[in-house]
Amino acid sequence: MRAILLLGGLGTRLRPFTLAKPKPLLPILDRPMIAWQVERLRRFGVREVVLALGYGAAHFRRSLGTGRAWGVRFIYSLESEPLGTGGAIRLASKHVQGPTLVLNGDILSDLDLAAFAAFHRRQKADATLSLVAVPDPSAFGVVETAADGRVKSFLEKPAPGTTKADTINAGCYLFEPSIFSEIPEGRPVSVEREVFPALVRGGRRLFGLRHGGYWLDVGTLETYLGSHADLLKGNSMRSRPGARRLRKGLWAAPGARVHPSAVVKGHVYLGPKCRVEEGAVLAGFVCAGAGTVIGEKASVSDSVLHARVRVGAGAKVAGSLVGEGASLGANCQVQGMAVAPGSAWGDYSRSFSCLDKPSRNG
Ligand code: GTP
Repeated sequence: MRAILLLGGLGTRLRPFTLAKPKPLLPILDRPMIAWQVERLRRFGVREVVLALGYGAAHFRRSLGTGRAWGVRFIYSLESEPLGTGGAIRLASKHVQGPTLVLNGDILSDLDLAAFAAFHRRQKADATLSLVAVPDPSAFGVVETAADGRVKSFLEKPAPGTTKADTINAGCYLFEPSIFSEIPEGRPVSVEREVFPALVRGGRRLFGLRHGGYWLDVGTLETYLGSHADLLKGNSMRSRPGARRLRKGLWAAPGARVHPSAVVKGHVYLGPKCRVEEGAVLAGFVCAGAGTVIGEKASVSDSVLHARVRVGAGAKVAGSLVGEGASLGANCQVQGMAVAPGSAWGDYSRSFSCLDKPSRNG
């Protein structure tokens, strides 16, 4: 089976980080977000993955190449203008035959793809959607299903109390090939808002399978930080090739160095050649990308530092995302901040802001 990965969105909610790099290439635990999806597909047996690209296509080619390093073959489908999720699927569908998995590129999930495909076959579905329950569905597009999972309707941001359904589209689909030709061609189309409702109206067999396991839409700064918290606390380090456990709660890639007096209270991952200097304190969850340096007596908590970040001596970083190559001078205080890649903050700069706590699901 081939799969299509949807990767061409602008990632506006994750700006400024997505100005330098498209969202699916932003690192999660120091590896591109898309790597987590590709690994799941490969474990399921997919060997050829169609990358549906628009915004930032050149970045993908540079970073991903042929896919051989990950044990798959990438097929590039390029949009000259954004076609939306539905238009992107239609364009990419010329590279696939037979039933095809389609995944959003910004989802972390432990959905059992084999069980998902078995459900699809059992129901003789034309298309199957993975669904997840959320506590307050009124901010989402809600999917109403019958007892056997057949989709009855889609409700866009329903007012509280107007439906009993609490399941939303989880961004993972299985399509029979006959569906592709029903997607309008050559113009932007939303699969969620246009294609699926039209299929239901047209009597096609659309099913939803509720997923009760892990699922996170990594679309906002809060959920991006939350993804790191979840993965670090879930001890996913075992799936990071080469990561070693240096002490309790501290995992590091080759070449990372931690001064013996540095304190680790929580769950930490350090990328290759990171350095943590004398008396530094790392608490809660912390991920530092390749070559990042955390200076003497600095403290970092509940934060993600991308590659080659400098945190000056005595600086305090809490609940923040610091972009690649950014530099925070000595004794800076940064709390709840999105620090743009490459920016330089002078000594003693302070900023306390508006980022909510790392969160789940939007
Ligand atoms: P925001 O701008 O922050 O909403 O992010 P986004 O642009 O990624 O949009 P959204 O999260 O709704 O997209 C869901 C998935 O569809 C992501 O994996 C996107 O990369 C992908 N996607 C969205 N629009 C397009 C498009 O026009 N073309 C392609 N190929 N993929 C798209």
